[in-house]
Amino acid sequence: MQIVRSSEELALARAALPPKVALVPTMGALHAGHMALIAEGKKRAASVVASVFVNPAQFGPGEDFGRYPRRNADDAQMLEAEGCDLMWAPLVEDIYPEGFATRVSVRGVSDRWEGEARPRHFDGVATVVAKLLLSVRPDLALFGEKDFQQLSMIRRMVADLNIPVEIVGVPTVREADGLAFSSRNAYLGTDERERAIALPRALATARELIRGGTNVSIALKQAKQSLVDAGFLRIDYFALVDAATLEPLDQPQGCMRLIAAAVIGTTRLIDNLAI
Ligand code: PAJ
Repeated sequence: MQIVRSSEELALARAALPPKVALVPTMGALHAGHMALIAEGKKRAASVVASVFVNPAQFGPGEDFGRYPRRNADDAQMLEAEGCDLMWAPLVEDIYPEGFATRVSVRGVSDRWEGEARPRHFDGVATVVAKLLLSVRPDLALFGEKDFQQLSMIRRMVADLNIPVEIVGVPTVREADGLAFSSRNAYLGTDERERAIALPRALATARELIRGGTNVSIALKQAKQSLVDAGFLRIDYFALVDAATLEPLDQPQGCMRLIAAAVIGTTRLIDNLAI
């Protein structure tokens, strides 16, 4: 596996890759969820590129940009073992050189939920993903359903800007007890880690209740209470939404998703489930 940093090195390495080319954008601290994206990329393309970049533009003031885990050497080893062909690990100045002035903002699908809880977060994601896609020019790019709203926003952006790439969504990979793999799980202490499984459990219980005909607001209220009981300090949202528009639903209809974000200790976790 080749490792490059600057845009110039990337362009040279990219030109030598056999088509089709798949891109997996990441912020590193790689885990089994990221590896599933690489594996799916390998199935669908001849070459797989992974970008590893902790993007300052998508962190708000007071968020965890400074303490976000950075493990470039481990990441390189994992990518190599999974059969990735090229790792692009740019520096902040490679992505945002002096004078950088553009911001991509996707309205509608990114307004609510994460957009409300983390102002400007999605502008930072859209801007960097647009730049990564235009730099690598992959035939396809893979994103996890773990970040369901992010995936919806990226699909919207690519359609709106006619970026010639196929966006592939990959199902969430979970640990044995159901907690979704996340680089932020590294922040959890032993006790918090045990209590964190209340989040996927609350989603699964709410899904069963809603499938069984329980009133949606009652099912959501019960789910939020179970998070409070497990020691979550703040629930940013726990909602049933239309899977395409992310608009909230007060009764089951069409293609739906349960989405949630909550804080345990100092760690903010997000998760979601298809209904
Ligand atoms: P990061 O959190 O590193 O995630 C990179 C990709 O891995 C995303 O598409 C995310 O949805 C996917 N992923 C994370 N955990 C997963 C899991 N348990 N199962 C399946 N897929 C999972 O998301 C970002 O980085 C950034 O916002 C990025 C898109 C790279 C832009 O900076």
